[in-house]
Amino acid sequence: MSSVFYRTAKKHYPLAVRAEGMYIYDQDNKPYLDMSGGAAVSCLGHQHEKVVTVLCGQIKQMSFAHTAFFSNQPQEELAERLAEKFSQDDAKVYFTSGGSEANETAIKMAWQYWRTKGLISKQKIISRVHSYHGNTLATLSASGNLPRRRVMGDLLLEWPRIDPCYAYRYQANKESLQEYGLRSANLLESMILQEGAENIAAFIAEPVVGASLGVVPAAPGYFTRIRQICDQYDILLIADEIMCGTGRTGTFFAHQQEGFVPDIVTLAKGLAGGYQPLAATIASSQVHQVLQDSNTGFSHGHTYVGHASACAAGLAVLNVIDEERLLEKVMQQGDNLQLALQKNFGHMDYIGDIRGRGLFRGIEIVADKASKKPFADERKITANLHKLTMKHGLICYPGGGSEIDGLGSHILLAPPFIIEDQHIELLIKKLTAIFTELFDG
Ligand SMILES: Cc1ncc(COP(=O)(O)O)c(C=O)c1O
Repeated sequence: MSSVFYRTAKKHYPLAVRAEGMYIYDQDNKPYLDMSGGAAVSCLGHQHEKVVTVLCGQIKQMSFAHTAFFSNQPQEELAERLAEKFSQDDAKVYFTSGGSEANETAIKMAWQYWRTKGLISKQKIISRVHSYHGNTLATLSASGNLPRRRVMGDLLLEWPRIDPCYAYRYQANKESLQEYGLRSANLLESMILQEGAENIAAFIAEPVVGASLGVVPAAPGYFTRIRQICDQYDILLIADEIMCGTGRTGTFFAHQQEGFVPDIVTLAKGLAGGYQPLAATIASSQVHQVLQDSNTGFSHGHTYVGHASACAAGLAVLNVIDEERLLEKVMQQGDNLQLALQKNFGHMDYIGDIRGRGLFRGIEIVADKASKKPFADERKITANLHKLTMKHGLICYPGGGSEIDGLGSHILLAPPFIIEDQHIELLIKKLTAIFTELFDG
């Protein structure tokens, strides 16, 4: 009997004992092809030699020195590199350990920013339905992920939410993608007018929605209109790039492909590629300046803020991405992956949509292609997908699948940037077998 409080009771978890490149091996030496980096984490694959060497060196030299007393070189260097990439080298970076902490930090920055300016009623965070920004009480309050909210009863803060920009389900007949993008963005303006701009601190959104919808990029023009609305009504714009950032979509920040600059952007997952727990909240110089000039500064902090070996891992990951020009590979292999998925599964009756950016791809599964109706809940498509993929030695990230919420099940693919053609071929083989068992078995 294990003493572990597992994520899901009564579920059997194989023991992962070693990993290398694109594979994780269990206690029976069974290989699992890692096509989602867990949850979009392992961007360099497993046991990348350069990262492991740097990390071991840092741990031997100094693992940790509390940042209430000291700064450390990896934190300094990584912050400088991220600020440069953010195209504002006077932006400031606050390092934490995971995505929820990074978004919680972003929300607190927004609150304290307005308080410092004397606008104390600006407290609500507007988010989108079917979004996920974390599992702390504030970040879950700012999330529109309906199943995760439901189990919390009335414990969460009730903040306003607008529909996501999700062309596959919300674009009207005869409406162009551009028209849809504009209409969808204008929902934010309507919500601000309804709630009163004097009560809104920030709008938070993922530039490419990850696990809640199964990799959904916005329609063209959506985020430029969102930026205009936030400026017009004095609302901070937070880009949650916990999943879609750090090169996952082919540019270092996902927002770079949307033509806008957020006031605050959060990164995690691929930032240290799973070699250490690491997240970052990047504040534009304007946000930082206001907080810096207040009497109290930014009132926040956790024990592991700016952890030296976590930042060293982040720096090593960033160096590999830059030195090996991996973002070019993300674009190229991303296109190859999309083509292969489309060619092999696009025609299938139950495959509603295949989409994404770079090495971030989603496959939405529906019961009826024409009406886009999801499978009945009792078919347990998402849970069965999880079981079948593990059985076939494939790690992808199944999610969604809800009749009440009107969402198909989806498979999220976020493979390591070191992916080669042979891994795409193997993925297609495995998915073919899995779909046959799922739909015809
Ligand atoms: C977009 C997004 N934001 C926030 C989080 C929360 O991150 P963490 O699980 O590291 O707390 C996640 C996790 O999946 C995420 O995908």
